[in-house]
Amino acid sequence: MEVVVCKSYEELSRKAALSVAEIVRVKPDAVLGMAAGSSPLGLYRELIRMHREESLDFARVTTFNLDEYVGLPPSHDQSYHYFMNESFFQHVNIPEANIHIPSGTADDYESFCRHYEELIAESGGIDVQILGIGADGHMAFNEPTSSLASRTRLKTLAKQTIEDNSRFFEKIEDVPVHAVTMGVGTILEARKLVLVADGQKKADAMAAAIEGPVTSMVTTSAIQLHANVEVYLDEAAAAKLKMRDYYDWVQANKPGVD
Ligand code: GLP
Repeated sequence: MEVVVCKSYEELSRKAALSVAEIVRVKPDAVLGMAAGSSPLGLYRELIRMHREESLDFARVTTFNLDEYVGLPPSHDQSYHYFMNESFFQHVNIPEANIHIPSGTADDYESFCRHYEELIAESGGIDVQILGIGADGHMAFNEPTSSLASRTRLKTLAKQTIEDNSRFFEKIEDVPVHAVTMGVGTILEARKLVLVADGQKKADAMAAAIEGPVTSMVTTSAIQLHANVEVYLDEAAAAKLKMRDYYDWVQANKPGVD
């Protein structure tokens, strides 16, 4: 795992975006795993800038989003469909047919989730999965005690997550209680994981995920089982890391960099 601690949110967003962009440049038909939430917003802004100013081309790219609230149609301004369209998709040239986001309005979630997994497999698998982290250490909507082998499915949100996300809704009762989410097992099959986190609110979760035991109590700790992970943090989110000196040492002594 490569842990990169940055001076600012802008710097971590830029570095994470460069890592994703490199994959798109090498493989123009790359499959990107997208994440909603405020953490990757800077990364998306940077990819959009590269698309506009540095001809980063998404014409052959396919995307799969991690999750969606159950009960919110794509037109709802708090749905992840709406969020992704506003903050990324409408600003780049990914063909609409190549964009996949779990449905929050399916009639039959079991068959929808199976179909979503099949689509990922048919696409050849996710080349790079972008991730944020919840304050309780969850990734996507895999709440504490989610199986580390879980697949795309319906999940009941933890009260803490509902509270955390209520800031975006008029009242807490409006926050959906259920979500469709890729499973931890689904996420671990991506060829590369790029996790971004900023702010002191994420410090405990990041320390537990990177340096704590692998446990379903902190589903993001499952990234320790993946061979190709980059984590981009700002100083505040890195504040509780015990191995901080080592991470900086590694960055200062990268093989092949004089
Ligand atoms: C939600 C999403 C997660 C995200 C988390 C943190 O629970 N399902 O994918 O990582 O929120 O969101 P934010 O980046 O806004 O702090």
